[in-house]
Amino acid sequence: MNIKQLFDIEHPILQAPMAGASTPDLVANVSEAGGLGGLGAAAMPPDYLRKQIQAIKQRTSAAFSVNLFSPASEIFDPESQPGDKFSALLAGYHQEFELGEVPAPGNLFGPAEEQLQVLLDERVPVISFHFGAEPEHVDAIHDAGLKVICSATNIKEAKILESIGVDAVIAQGSEAGGHRGTFIGSYQDSLIGTLALVPQIVDAVSIPVIAAGGIMDARGIVACRALGAQAVQLGTAFLCCPETGIPDVWRQTLLASQAGQTTVTTAMSGKPARGIRNRYITEVENLNEPLLPYPLQYAVSETLRKQATQTGNPEFMAMWSGQGVGLINPSSANRTHAQS
Ligand SMILES: Cc1cc2nc3c(=O)[nH]c(=O)nc-3n(C[C@H](O)[C@H](O)[C@H](O)COP(=O)(O)O)c2cc1C
Repeated sequence: MNIKQLFDIEHPILQAPMAGASTPDLVANVSEAGGLGGLGAAAMPPDYLRKQIQAIKQRTSAAFSVNLFSPASEIFDPESQPGDKFSALLAGYHQEFELGEVPAPGNLFGPAEEQLQVLLDERVPVISFHFGAEPEHVDAIHDAGLKVICSATNIKEAKILESIGVDAVIAQGSEAGGHRGTFIGSYQDSLIGTLALVPQIVDAVSIPVIAAGGIMDARGIVACRALGAQAVQLGTAFLCCPETGIPDVWRQTLLASQAGQTTVTTAMSGKPARGIRNRYITEVENLNEPLLPYPLQYAVSETLRKQATQTGNPEFMAMWSGQGVGLINPSSANRTHAQS
């Protein structure tokens, strides 16, 4: 079965689910245009998630996807404490911006099991995972008659995902914006460019491969199809569409940025992710101190990041972006639909 039949879509183009950026409007407009819109739901509490899915269904009857982070990734390590230098840096930022004491971190993501139940109840056509997928979840999704896909950043991960029965694998090259989906081995070993990763995964598995990372327009799509990908997944290309939920300062920063301004860093969340370098990333990296594990590293800066978003300060926000940033086109995801 080809991927268009698998997902019941007209064009083999997936809009990447982007936690903090994708909205029901974006998802519905992409799906209405014949692609597969994707909602990044990792940070959505289950009740809110249900409402977002219902909002998508009110706008389109076409297929769409919803993405969760693997439950294994959301566990707080109770033993972890920030290093002295990081604690002092954070306290200094809180003083600089008059934010009071650094509060105890709260959980930012999940609970994935409850989120997944919402997706099953709502019969979300395509369920997507990042940071790996659990065999019992794949089975539950198939038992419900739905499809499941997951990102891989190396060949071993792609083979494991195939062996547990996912319907298609997303080959996430190192150009990609947002978190690296790596779940086996060191992330440094899995910083493999899309051009090298896609054909090696295509050769290694017999399920359809979806290419992701640095694809910004028709040139990238044609190139990835030539490499053997049946479909493509684009995130950064959609980030400045009017339908996304990103703050204006993030949007303006992206429109003024070039490829060399993105970096893969663990400073922001504790897991490697590609975004625009700013003061926070540089100063945390310069501490040369072991960081907290994900998601604690992310959670401890929540107050700081929220305040930066409210005041439009790009130096303390997580502005995820891929290396294709210089090619962003800020028009609507579905021009015909948006004008009608
Ligand atoms: C702002 C942003 C947020 C992202 N959030 C998620 C996410 O929640 N789940 C996920 O599976 N991938 C996420 N990604 C990664 C995408 O799925 C995809 O791998 C990536 O966007 C492809 O590379 P590109 O950005 O160069 O198109 C995110 C990417 C960006 C840019």
